[in-house]
Amino acid sequence: MGKPSLSLRLTIFLSLSLTASYSISASSSSPIFPRRSSPNPSLKATPSDLLSLLGPKSQSSSIDPFVAKELTSCFRFLVPFSPIAKKNCPPSYLNRKFLSLKQKGGDLCQREENELVWWPPRPVLELARLAVDSGGDPAAIQRALDPTMITVPDVEGSKEDRCELTRTPYGRRFISEELNSYLEFLFELILARGPNIGLNVSLSRYDLFHGHLFLAIDSGRLGILFHAKEYPAYDKEVFPYNMGYCQVGSNVTYDDSMNLRNILWLAPLPSDSTKAWAAPGVLVALDARPDGIIYRDLIPEYVNIARTIYEDDLGEVAVDVNYLDVGNAGSKFKIFIC
Ligand SMILES: *[C@@H]1O[C@H](CO)[C@@H](O)[C@H](O)[C@H]1NC(C)=O
Ligand SMILES: *[C@@H]1O[C@H](CO)[C@@H](O)[C@H](O)[C@H]1NC(C)=O
Repeated sequence: MGKPSLSLRLTIFLSLSLTASYSISASSSSPIFPRRSSPNPSLKATPSDLLSLLGPKSQSSSIDPFVAKELTSCFRFLVPFSPIAKKNCPPSYLNRKFLSLKQKGGDLCQREENELVWWPPRPVLELARLAVDSGGDPAAIQRALDPTMITVPDVEGSKEDRCELTRTPYGRRFISEELNSYLEFLFELILARGPNIGLNVSLSRYDLFHGHLFLAIDSGRLGILFHAKEYPAYDKEVFPYNMGYCQVGSNVTYDDSMNLRNILWLAPLPSDSTKAWAAPGVLVALDARPDGIIYRDLIPEYVNIARTIYEDDLGEVAVDVNYLDVGNAGSKFKIFIC
């Protein structure tokens, strides 16, 4: 699937390895980023705990209560969490076409937006079901893509900076336009609701433009881990890291909102035995503040400065979802699946 992009995780790692003095200041013993000790230090939260806790009772009840409490304190829900699905199946009115809903013009009301996260349109549900039925096979997701390759255009002057934003220089789209449209909706929803939780993002090539679509086989969950604030501006004081071409010209300031840069969307969880659903969808920012359990247990130490949760830790990554400013008059942004 092409070479991996030089993600924040990797570039930080490189700059740390190349610059010994930085690696000292970024190490876990640094007083700037204290690590809190838990009552029982052997109790560590795992990525699988995180997903289970956002699932049905049958999954969440198996988590150690201390870990559950600490993790819960790091959840910043962008859409209210609704662990007990009021109805065990999507409300029937959601069979309405999502696209037509958007095209009919105007904004969705908050309630409709919430419902679209809890119970997405049919093509999204079908993808979630496919993820489980295929036994977590990324190829099953990839087969839902239109084979047409679309060249990734020059996004906001990236060419001039020699910045390769995406994993591959071309992208594809899902055959289902409703699915593409839903992905756009998720980006726009994060943009719109972020400020409620202290996460101001912009849909720019330095900030929120991508997420990693993964299949978590153990929990049966299809999800996307979005990474906002991908390229913070170099700053001698607060962010003295050189991240290469894509960072040049960044207007993203490194501040406390970096803690919220990992945003998790989960599709509803199919129940194993029936055609029913065991849990509704979720949209939550994962607070990686330095005194929290996510920072302590789920952020690899070599990227703790960048607060990056690694998508491969959550599941098998099928594709990257990019939402790029292509500068068209009609629709400014476009989805590229790479
Ligand atoms: C986010 O932006 C809003 C304006 O849209 C501003 O009022 C608020 O102070 C900003 N919050 C942060 C954390 O920067
Ligand atoms: C950074 O630039 C983008 C794209 O021009 C813009 O939308 C955004 O508001 C800017 N952000 C800040 C923090 O100035």
